[in-house]
Amino acid sequence: MKILVTGGVGYIGSHTVVELQNAGHEVLIVDNLSNSNIEVVNQIEKISGIKPLVEIFDLEDLLLTRDFFTRHHGIEGIIHFAAFKAVGESVEHPLKYYRNNLVSLINILACMKEFNVPNLVFSSSCTVYGQPEILPVTEDAPVQKAMSPYGNTKQISEEIILDTVHTGGIKAIALRYFNPIGAHESALIGELPLGVPNNLMPFITQTAIGIRKELSVFGNDYNTPDGTAIRDYIHVVDLAKAHVVAVERMVNQRSKSDFEMFNVGTGNGFSVLEVIHSFERTTGMKLNYKIVGRRAGDVEKVYADTKFANEELGWKAEKSLDEMTLSAWNWEKALNNKSNL
Ligand code: UFG
Repeated sequence: MKILVTGGVGYIGSHTVVELQNAGHEVLIVDNLSNSNIEVVNQIEKISGIKPLVEIFDLEDLLLTRDFFTRHHGIEGIIHFAAFKAVGESVEHPLKYYRNNLVSLINILACMKEFNVPNLVFSSSCTVYGQPEILPVTEDAPVQKAMSPYGNTKQISEEIILDTVHTGGIKAIALRYFNPIGAHESALIGELPLGVPNNLMPFITQTAIGIRKELSVFGNDYNTPDGTAIRDYIHVVDLAKAHVVAVERMVNQRSKSDFEMFNVGTGNGFSVLEVIHSFERTTGMKLNYKIVGRRAGDVEKVYADTKFANEELGWKAEKSLDEMTLSAWNWEKALNNKSNL
């Protein structure tokens, strides 16, 4: 199959490109490099032996987006990653988030209609559930008011896709990611956070390697066994594989409805301290951390009910927390030795 991956140079995108290539698909990438490095394309080639075609432009630009589709025919599916994703930044710059995340999706959908591209996989997030009342959370749990403009773009995007799918000619799958961490086992690709990381795993590895002085653990007074917040961490390679099966499901006409949503997690909740302990166990290092107050907007605990994804997609996350933390560390070490990334 010929698959377009938007944001394919980014963290989850690059791992998905590799898994698509491993599955024998032809990949085209569109990326504006706003939060990624073009060198990643060479790293992808080192892993898979195949250099994907890459075009650098902004999907906010409808003329450029249309031009792309006039030149590339036979695209059977689009995996749309290209979006901003920093929760805090979205509170500071809401219009930047609404414009980028929504306009690029609208342009993609408009081109799918115009150029007859039938299938879309969309990057959604467990953030749509807020703090769920029932855990593990299932796909039919109510969507709660978003805590940030970023989260709101994911909710609005799902609605835009649903309304567009209703007009016919397009099928879609929204994958609701839990917390992707880790890196490819080759340590050739991984997460490249810009500046001070917001997320736990890159903050841990940057602290361990000496870029940050210490990790702050945000809150130990939650109603959890050790008092720290619980998330469903998923290895980015497991997450990438979910995209391959999702796009194949649509192309092979196996969807049960024209817009499906799947939780993509492991089903296991781990606390912040458990992640730290896993990191210390797998690397043999001692991490410098301290407990501080809660971070505004954090939910107490969330982890996925993965039954629907396991049964319908025939996909299951395979990698353990220790494999996730060790791969993140191997990537941080490799990154430290590279000057061009
Ligand atoms: N944490 C710390 N210290 C840090 C960073 C994080 O203790 O320096 C804690 C957080 O408080 C939270 C856990 O580690 O309890 C995970 O935090 P992350 O920032 O890694 O992930 P979040 O769960 O906050 O955010 C992720 C995605 C968002 C998405 C959200 C949905 O990054 O895109 O899940 O819940 F919106």
